[in-house]
Parts: sequence; C-alpha cells; structure tokens
Amino acid sequence: MAERLDPWGSGRIEDYENLFREFGINSFEKFRNKFQENRYIRRGIIFGHRDFSRIMNSIENKKPFVMMTGLMPSGKFHFGHKMVADQIVFYQKLGAEIFICSADLEAYLMRGISFETAKEITIDEYLTNYLALGLENKNLNFWFQSNYKVPYYRLRDMLSKKVTFNELSGIYGELTTGKIFSSITQAADILHPQLREFGGSRPVVVPVGADQDPHIRLTRDLAARFQSEFKFIAPSSTYHKFMEGLQGGKMSSSDSNSYIALTENPEDARKKIMNAKTGGRATVAEQKEKGGIPEECTVYDFFLYHLVDDDNDLMRIYGDCKGGKQVCGECKKICADMIAKFLEEHQKKREKVGGVVESVLAN
Ligand code: TRP
Ligand code: SF4
Repeated sequence: MAERLDPWGSGRIEDYENLFREFGINSFEKFRNKFQENRYIRRGIIFGHRDFSRIMNSIENKKPFVMMTGLMPSGKFHFGHKMVADQIVFYQKLGAEIFICSADLEAYLMRGISFETAKEITIDEYLTNYLALGLENKNLNFWFQSNYKVPYYRLRDMLSKKVTFNELSGIYGELTTGKIFSSITQAADILHPQLREFGGSRPVVVPVGADQDPHIRLTRDLAARFQSEFKFIAPSSTYHKFMEGLQGGKMSSSDSNSYIALTENPEDARKKIMNAKTGGRATVAEQKEKGGIPEECTVYDFFLYHLVDDDNDLMRIYGDCKGGKQVCGECKKICADMIAKFLEEHQKKREKVGGVVESVLAN
C-alpha cells in the first residue's frame, strides 16, 4: 500500500527507507563525507535528497546557488526548528543566497491564525532566534507570503494553469481551496528566486522534513512545465529526520510538554528534561544488567541533535547507556544542565539582535 505523505497531517514517519523506495527520495550517504563539519549530515539526520548533486556542484565550483525555506508561524520556536535554522546558517556560510518566507498565508488558511499573530510569532520567535543562532543579514531575502512583490504573485497565479485538480488530489488527498492555495503559494516560494526580477535561473536547495515532500514534487513538476517560459532549474531538496516529542509522539508547537522552546525559562526546561521519556528500564537494577536503549530516548536525541558536537563524546554517552554504566536520573541531569546553559547563552544573544531584526524586515 502506498502511503501518502501529508504536509498538514500529524503523523510521524517511521520508516525512512520506505521513502527511498516509494517516493524516489535518494539516500544522502554519498555526500556525507563531504560535510564532516555538519553534525546533521555526519550523523545521518539529514538522510535524503533530490538532485543534491546540482548543489554540490555549485558549492565545489563556487557558483551561485540559493537556499530557500519557509517557516510556519504557528507557535513557539523549539529545538526541532533549530535544526532548520542551523541548516540555513550552514548554507549561508557556504555562500548561498538565502530566501526565507513566513508562511503567514498558509497559517491563516490552514490553521486559522491571524496575520497579526503570525507576524508577532515570525519576528519574536523565528527571526530573532535565527539571528541569535548565527544568521546574518547579508545575501538574505525575507518576506511574508501575504505581503510581497508583484512578480511573485504573478508567478503563483500562472502556476495554476499547469496543474489539474486530479493531480492535486492525487498528491494531497481530499482537497480544500485553502490546500490548493497553500501548495501553489509554496511552489511560488520555491521557484520565484529564479525569476529574472529575483536573480534568474540558478540552483535552489530546500531543506525540509519528509512531510513537505509532496510540495517539493509538485514544485519540481511545475518547474519542468514552465521550463520554456522561465528556464527554471528543478529545485533540489534535502530531508531530515524529526526529533521525537519529549513524552514520545510528535514534537509539536501545539503541545508545550512535547518541546523545549529556545525562549524557555532554563528552570522549566530542566524540569521538562527530568520528566522526559527515556529509553531506560523499569528499575535501576534491570538497567545496570541490560543497559538502556538510547535509540528510544528523547534525552539522547538532544545530545545527538544539538548538545554534543564531538562524536567521541557522543559515542561514550551511547556506550555508557547501552552497557548499563549510566542510569537515566544522572544522565537526564547532565542533559538538563547542558540545555539550561545553552538557553542562558542563547537568550543573551537574542537580546543583542533586535536592531538586526528591524533591518531584515526593512530589506
Ligand atoms: N509549508 C511549510 C510548513 O508547514 C512552510 C513553507 C511555506 C515552506 N513555504 C515554504 C517550506 C517553502 C519550505 C519551502 O512548515
Ligand atoms: Fe536515555 Fe541516558 Fe537513560 Fe540512556 S541513560 S536511556 S541515554 S536517559
């Protein structure tokens, strides 16, 4: 049975291998050793791609390319979102032109969020955190889907000419007008950097979670169909795994027990870690005998994704857990301390970027 990826759904994707088989997403393996400095790539958290060779080629030959992403302004910016922010910064350092949009229109259409609220969340949560995480206001285009330039809207309207209802329902299942608008708007987000007005044809990479792949496929098809009009190069994409929520299940902005926000009070963050789902055993004795299961531990995920950059240090944590040398109480405390320290430092950086936020919005 072919599963359907649902960009507006809440399911977790359990079987990443299946995505390779069913959807033609390629393994990122062959690029892994080229980016040893990138933790997410090195550790296989970025696991898949479409047409990444084109981006590799631009990077290696110092040719222009674009990194584009959209943020959903629907709640707190948490450690799951940090993964995307780190990737934006990574590509900016590699010389990419950065295009970032606030999907405030999609938030309005699909989640009932007002434009005003979306704007606040975009600024206080996303932009401020991006800048505090190292994004610089250079080679950076930032816009709101609801308030941008005419050629972008013209392109969006034109795109609708070459996609049928049948095709959209094949991709998204039951359609609503809002879904149609959101998906075509997203295609315009990804393709418009290649319009003459925005810099012309060049490779674009979109780093996403696999749930966004339906939009990527639609966009790539549209790029081909408008090839003669616009000389679009098919956009490339990369796919990352998601962190699990702190109680198991999905890490979601709508459930504050599932995540730690980057604006979280360090003491509250500490408590969330101490209450998190681990891969530990029922008793300390059992854990010492059989060892823990880091693969099922949300605390371990924090080390793996964010807190421990040195692979040897990570291996030691992994080995101590598996071998029953470490027990969860102690381990959670170490993690909680690291997170509290990270948050304190991060929140200081947030205070310094206010002026930069203003200038990004004025771009
Ligand atoms: N749909 C995306 C989300 O729900 C947000 C988004 C809008 C986006 N435009 C985009 C993501 C372009 C990647 C590229 O998070
Ligand atoms: Fe998770 Fe640490 Fe417990 Fe292992 S020891 S299951 S890594 S909390």
